Amino acid sequence: MRNFISVNQLNAKDIFLIIETAERFRQKEAPINKQVFVANLFFEPSTRTKMSFIVAQRKLGLEVLDFHSESSSVLKGETLYDTAKTFESIGANLLVMRHEDDTWYDELIPGLQVPIINAGAGKGEHPTQCMLDLTTIYQEYGYFTGLNVVIVGDIRHSRVARSNAYALKKLGANVYLSAAPGFEDPTMDFPYLTMDEAVETCDVIMLLRIQHERHEARYEDVSYIETYGLTKEREKRMKEHAIILHPAPINRGVEIDTSLVECNRSRIFKQMENGVYVRMAIISKLLNDWGIINDSFEKHTKTYAI
Ligand code: CP
Repeated sequence: MRNFISVNQLNAKDIFLIIETAERFRQKEAPINKQVFVANLFFEPSTRTKMSFIVAQRKLGLEVLDFHSESSSVLKGETLYDTAKTFESIGANLLVMRHEDDTWYDELIPGLQVPIINAGAGKGEHPTQCMLDLTTIYQEYGYFTGLNVVIVGDIRHSRVARSNAYALKKLGANVYLSAAPGFEDPTMDFPYLTMDEAVETCDVIMLLRIQHERHEARYEDVSYIETYGLTKEREKRMKEHAIILHPAPINRGVEIDTSLVECNRSRIFKQMENGVYVRMAIISKLLNDWGIINDSFEKHTKTYAI
């Protein structure tokens, strides 16, 4: 694997390999015995993704180059490509990047000689979020085939919806969408359910944040949760074993009743924990595939099924 950009580049075997490797990293950490530099280039806000990448990188023993776009030469007009090329030139061995453009990586990949991980691309894809969501579902059920999964919310503006819908379909899950008028995505060919139908039939309720920053006008609907969200009343009608996911940040009381955020069905904070190990697995796989990590680590990681 040269870069980690889209779930579409992964087959089912690749996905299971990352899930399995993440689990092995959880059981036993395996630091790299070589100086390897990694740069986290975030041009959009992030708490979970950026911080869990940093934890993953430090657990792997990598040298982390921090970057703050708001105090960088981007303010002097430097392009995304030149910023990335600068980090490559000064010795970064891996770039992790988030940007508002849906396909920012297209202009970078041809000119760079280091691997790139997509940490979020506009409304396009969020493949490491998808991998941690899949890991969380797999931990719960141990399989994907035949699971009913509904992705609920601002589908049109969500990179999480896109990555998860296609990956889950590839793995044999029955994928449904549920959205308020205007939040549907006509480019995604999946059946729609109402929230009342979804809670009674689905094994996984994957809620999405309303992406206000990607809307042309502020979306205001004080009754959103009653019609389209997960209320306490709807939670009571969920299947006995069904779980709740949300990539977060959460708009409490909008997508989900605040009392449900940490209820027994919620795996929201488990998703965040899984993000560290999934990102360790993805980073180590890329470094292995590029031959950047040393022989001893390569031998070690082979015991981790990479
Ligand atoms: N889920 C997610 O991407 O969260 P952050 O925006 O905080 O990274």
